[in-house]
Amino acid sequence: PTPPAGAAGGDGPVVVAHRGASAYAPENTLAAVDRAAAMGIGWVENDVQRTKDGRLVVMHDDTLERTTDVKRVFPHRAPWRVKDFTAAEIARLDAGRWFGTRYAGTRVPTLRQYMERLSRHHQKLVLEIKSPELYPGIERETLELLADEGWLDAEHLRNRLVVQSFSAASVRRVHALRPGIRTAFLGTPKASELPAYARFADQINAAYTKLSARYVSALHAVGGPHGKPLKVCAWTVNTASDARRVAGFGVDGIITNAPDVVRAAVSSP
Ligand code: G3P
Ligand code: CA
Repeated sequence: PTPPAGAAGGDGPVVVAHRGASAYAPENTLAAVDRAAAMGIGWVENDVQRTKDGRLVVMHDDTLERTTDVKRVFPHRAPWRVKDFTAAEIARLDAGRWFGTRYAGTRVPTLRQYMERLSRHHQKLVLEIKSPELYPGIERETLELLADEGWLDAEHLRNRLVVQSFSAASVRRVHALRPGIRTAFLGTPKASELPAYARFADQINAAYTKLSARYVSALHAVGGPHGKPLKVCAWTVNTASDARRVAGFGVDGIITNAPDVVRAAVSSP
């Protein structure tokens, strides 16, 4: 079986498709999930936010203009914040044409649609609560949806789900709401601060440019909330040489837009 994210064994780091296989298909869409599945990549990462009418949608930026045609469809609604649009309005947007004409008509997925697609592919998820300060209560709502979709059963908790955020407060809330969920804090706390983070986070997922073998060792020496050593995934690593370098530091996972490139670089011959 595929090892869980953050569980480097003899096979090298786990490869996680960042925003789906986002080098090859529009980020955070079902097409990007499908592309990762077609490559045989088991883990994907996504970003979750909330619409004006309280629906959870998969989107990285706080605003819609970079990855959709919102300026054309709603020209007078600047600055086009996700939180100012209803789910029905967002469902009208094209989230694929900016990436390439073959993806025209691709939609912004709701989190529910996204989870259903992952389940169909038997994929696993690193789910990022994005900009939680904009969305009070989003942690509870996200966990309710995950539970409803069958993602908080023992198997998913053990092997198929990690919830992460740049906000330590948000990660702490997720851990408090459902202590069985594996969580990750996005950042690079000082080594001396790691025990404090390890009270609520199982992983420290770090910008690869900030990592070193020494930091990874320090991290692995600290026990997380589930009694196992802290793990670390490096992001966003898109070249074979960088992948080999961070694998050499001993990271447990690599989050990448180009999972095929990274897998080829770090898997054993
Ligand atoms: O999973 C790590 C990475 O996604 C964090 O950065 O900006 O791509 O969400 P960002
Ligand atoms: Ca992310």
